[in-house]
Amino acid sequence: MNEAVQPAAHLRLVSDRAAGDASGIKLSGVSKTYRTRDGDVPSLRPLDFHINDGEFFVVVGPSGCGKSTLLKLISGLLAPTTGEILVEGQKVTTPHGNVGIVFQNALLLPWRNILGNVMLPIDMKRLPRQDYLDRAKSLLKLVGLEGFEKKLPWQLSGGMQQRASICRALVHDPRIMLMDEPFGALDALTRERMNIELMRIQRETKKTVLLITHSIPEAVFLADRVLVMTERPGAIAAIYDVPLPRLRSLDVMADPVFTELVQRIRKHFFSQGALD
Ligand SMILES: Nc1ncnc2c1ncn2[C@@H]1O[C@H](COP(=O)(O)OP(=O)(O)O)[C@@H](O)[C@H]1O
Ligand SMILES: [Mg+2]
Repeated sequence: MNEAVQPAAHLRLVSDRAAGDASGIKLSGVSKTYRTRDGDVPSLRPLDFHINDGEFFVVVGPSGCGKSTLLKLISGLLAPTTGEILVEGQKVTTPHGNVGIVFQNALLLPWRNILGNVMLPIDMKRLPRQDYLDRAKSLLKLVGLEGFEKKLPWQLSGGMQQRASICRALVHDPRIMLMDEPFGALDALTRERMNIELMRIQRETKKTVLLITHSIPEAVFLADRVLVMTERPGAIAAIYDVPLPRLRSLDVMADPVFTELVQRIRKHFFSQGALD
């Protein structure tokens, strides 16, 4: 247990962090309504929040509340219906190179070996391969995949494939990582290991991370702040600071500060039904 943890009574729960500088990610009045043949599907109500540069920001919310939509809007894969998104001061209008994206499944190309899969963004962006090969190899080493460069995806476990997909999202050195339930398909033990590794990578590389999860303990374990969403059309139910020191070990989950915050967030969903 970490002695530096504050007593639960002193927990500063609702975030009062100031928003406004040009770094990080800023959403102003961002909403999304899908226009379909069967009518409009309001997916997100107007959202206003700011993710700080170098922050580990986690979003939790019930199934279908618009979490993946939010991530697609920030990455520029989708256009908002209203509002404006700024990534490092630049308005997002099309998919941009500043982000690395990790989806729920590793989505590796089966015919490319692990190194080839990690190098995919370099090949797609037509960046000079030679300049990035060493980086790809050192990322694989960072996540414990040294020696697996020449293997094909099927020769690796699900957890190893997901770690490779994280390397792929990092290889072009994006300042921002967007991760949509990246560990959803993993068993509990692998998931815990991945959480610890991701926390370490984020600390070592100082990335801004936006991670979506439906696991409240995972959110509190990883995050500097946790944004809790309401049911669809998603709105912000609350944003919580996580006042637990870094680096965290799994022991932190027994800390009263941790358990109290998990309970507090869980209460948001008692009235709404379960998370997905
Ligand atoms: N392309 C689409 N067309 C119409 N409706 C969509 C589309 N994508 C998502 N939706 C709807 O928008 C809502 C939010 O979806 P999504 O962002 O995937 O939620 P989450 O990731 O939180 O589960 C859901 O009700 C979903 O059915
Ligand atoms: Mg989703």
